[in-house]
Amino acid sequence: MKVLVATEKPFAAVAVNGIREVVEGAGYELELLEKYGSKQELLDAAATADGLIIRSDVVDAEVLDAAKNLKVVVRAGAGYDNVDLAAATAHGVCVENTPGQNSNAVAELVFGMTVMAVRNMYDGTSGTELKDKTLGIHAFGQVGRNVARIAKGFDMQVSALDPYCPDEVMTEAGVKPVHSVEELYGDNKFVSLHIPATAETRGSVGYDLLMRMPKGGVLINTARKEVIDEAGLAKALEERPDLKYVADVKPDSAEDLKARFGSRVFFTPKKMGAQTSEANINAGIAAARQTVAFLRDGVDRFRVNK
Ligand code: 3PG
Repeated sequence: MKVLVATEKPFAAVAVNGIREVVEGAGYELELLEKYGSKQELLDAAATADGLIIRSDVVDAEVLDAAKNLKVVVRAGAGYDNVDLAAATAHGVCVENTPGQNSNAVAELVFGMTVMAVRNMYDGTSGTELKDKTLGIHAFGQVGRNVARIAKGFDMQVSALDPYCPDEVMTEAGVKPVHSVEELYGDNKFVSLHIPATAETRGSVGYDLLMRMPKGGVLINTARKEVIDEAGLAKALEERPDLKYVADVKPDSAEDLKARFGSRVFFTPKKMGAQTSEANINAGIAAARQTVAFLRDGVDRFRVNK
């Protein structure tokens, strides 16, 4: 049996070695397809794969059609909006993610970008500090919880909104639960986004919420570009020269936003949140173990499709 690791944005070499050990140690063949330039390369490599490990690589019906032997796709990471779950189910393919494995890396980047924003992109001018400032965490999953933990070290006042998370989980973490987006954006100078891209969340953060933010508000997005209404974001930035937007997920209108708002916006050139050796090792090896566990024993604990 063959396990294909298809990563347009490769894992650190040390993580690839760990994945190889797990896969080959189970007696399976490992094929590595990194930095591929065309979808055809993915289709060709997937044609003979029994298991597939990916990151943000798109697995759609075309890939699933081409991958005749495929039984399991493991997204080494949290978000699986890059996988067509319905098509996978129709093809009898199990889809899994590796929740929590890269969340500290993403949370640390939240603060890397937030400090950069309040220090005016390190341009030499006087900025502000995070101590005693308010931070709203939009979704209290694994990344949101790590963000809260680190924010406490900065002495920030932390609130969170998450209809899927009991209030007690937040209060135990020293976080104030809030119950509406209006409250979250209205009361917090910093808002960090951790919602997944779903039919409900796409385009859900835009003009109205941004306009509610207190003076000097900073929106930090290490989640998905799709959750932002980019026209609304641009309008709010235009009307409120005090607002800033920093994102680890380059918007479609990045060039326009950069041209209009200069250093009030920042975008990483490629999604960098999970790009650490530690996150690559954690998520990559978890993905390898889950792939082997499924192929060998049918274990599907982290399955995300029906
Ligand atoms: C995730 O959903 O796990 C993160 O967005 C990381 O994505 P990446 O593996 O493409 O860096």
